[in-house]
Amino acid sequence: MKHLRSISELGTDGVARILKLTESMAEINTRSVPKVPALRGKTVVSLFFEDSTRTRLSFETAAKRLSAETMNFSVSISSVNKGESLRDTIETITDMGVDAFVVRHKSVGVPWQISQWTNASIVNAGDGAHQHPTQALVDCFTVREALGKQDLTGLNLTIVGDIKHSRVARSNIQAFHMLGAHITLVAPPTLLPLNIDHWPVKVSNDLDAVLGSTDVLYMLRLQSERMAQGLVPSLREYSTRYGLDERRVAALRSSALVMHPGPMNRGVEMLIDPSDIPNSLIHRQVTNGVSVRMAVLFDLLSAEELS
Ligand code: CP
Repeated sequence: MKHLRSISELGTDGVARILKLTESMAEINTRSVPKVPALRGKTVVSLFFEDSTRTRLSFETAAKRLSAETMNFSVSISSVNKGESLRDTIETITDMGVDAFVVRHKSVGVPWQISQWTNASIVNAGDGAHQHPTQALVDCFTVREALGKQDLTGLNLTIVGDIKHSRVARSNIQAFHMLGAHITLVAPPTLLPLNIDHWPVKVSNDLDAVLGSTDVLYMLRLQSERMAQGLVPSLREYSTRYGLDERRVAALRSSALVMHPGPMNRGVEMLIDPSDIPNSLIHRQVTNGVSVRMAVLFDLLSAEELS
């Protein structure tokens, strides 16, 4: 595989391969010195045109644990501010000798555009509301780990909130569907995309009605920064109808798992502290982010077996 730009590009076999490889990376991360020479001599550059805490730091950690060199591109102190084009930026960094770009950009399709300007591998770390494939791989791995089984056939996954602006939702729907899960989206009509008739999902506007049949409750961040116009009447009303609070946690099955990709909006979609949720996987998602991204970088850049 040359690039990882979307879950559909990875395909069912690719998803299975990365999740399997992640198990080996997770084992490395339990060692007292969690570092292997697998990507010695390779260089990975982080190119984030949008803010990030988890994805950026976990990719950097992953690259370092595989002994790759890392380069960090900070838009705010780069020549982008002097008018340098995206193409010139990519070609300039390519000239320095890099093997992979990890790219986040607010515009849909930028990872595909960039791959025409460089021979390096491209990893999509989020393009607009389109794709965030490594988050979906993290989430699939985390659910399989929590359940202690690989087959997710028949699992009821409920994704709640701002589906319209969510690349995490789009990637997760594809990935969990590949693994056999049944997916229900819960959102106000204004926060659902227009063209979801062909998506492999059921849709509800009533969170309370689906809690009792949910195996995995996946809360999404309300992305107020992407909302050009008011798509919810008020944050208070949104929280009341779609926020996760103590009462809703109590209405879940005792075995139900709760997830959130972060960053959380406390007081909006999260009205309860994750530590007060019995089966919260939110911290495991962050921890597993490093192992999954190690697996992705290894899969893209290594021609050898992991030793
Ligand atoms: N989940 C996620 O993509 O988080 P960051 O924006 O912090 O990378």
